[in-house]
Amino acid sequence: MINVALPKGRLGEKVYSMFEKAGFECPSIHDNSRKLIFENEEKGIRYFWVKPSDVSIYVERGAADIGVAGKDILLEYSPEIYELLDLNIGKCKMAVAAKKGFYDDNSRTLKVATKFVNIAKNFYASRCRDIDIIKLNGSIELAPILGLSDVIVDIVETGTTLKENDLEVVETVIPISARLIANKSSFKFKTKEIEEILDSMKAQVKTDD
Ligand code: PRP
Repeated sequence: MINVALPKGRLGEKVYSMFEKAGFECPSIHDNSRKLIFENEEKGIRYFWVKPSDVSIYVERGAADIGVAGKDILLEYSPEIYELLDLNIGKCKMAVAAKKGFYDDNSRTLKVATKFVNIAKNFYASRCRDIDIIKLNGSIELAPILGLSDVIVDIVETGTTLKENDLEVVETVIPISARLIANKSSFKFKTKEIEEILDSMKAQVKTDD
């Protein structure tokens, strides 16, 4: 049995649909219920829905053999896992954003609000820019509006949240997409099963034209 941690929500639906097309369907997953675990014994696969930011924890600790996590989470937490495949879905970018017309005065420490403390620290360290990190847990866009920070480092998908709050992207930190990941010892001991899933999933990845 291969245990798969799926990210709950919109991305999870897309991810499951890729598994389904790859031949690892589990029809009961479509039942309108609050169940969190679904199994197809014949296919030897068991899915469970977890909070997207928790997928890599389940996989790293072996509660799941494989899973799908955003590159943002992998960069932020550096879990000990194997990254097997870029699924080319859930695409967005990690970006620095600020109030329109923001000018970065290099002589001052830059106040940066973010959920992604390590990504932000690494980004500014690579530029030798002195920063003061303000860790927030959501609605990051409020910080520059209320003067809590100069800039934010956050996910930008459609850009609507920034636009509706009179903010703009200053620069892109890194492009983000969903990745298929595996537990290291599962990959060693269930190599055949995981590689079969990996190969079938590769065939489902749509490339950008
Ligand atoms: C994310 C991110 C932005 C928004 C960007 O927030 O933090 O706020 O999505 O999307 P957009 O460019 O399409 O507007 P999320 O919905 O994950 O909630 P959060 O406020 O808890 O971070």
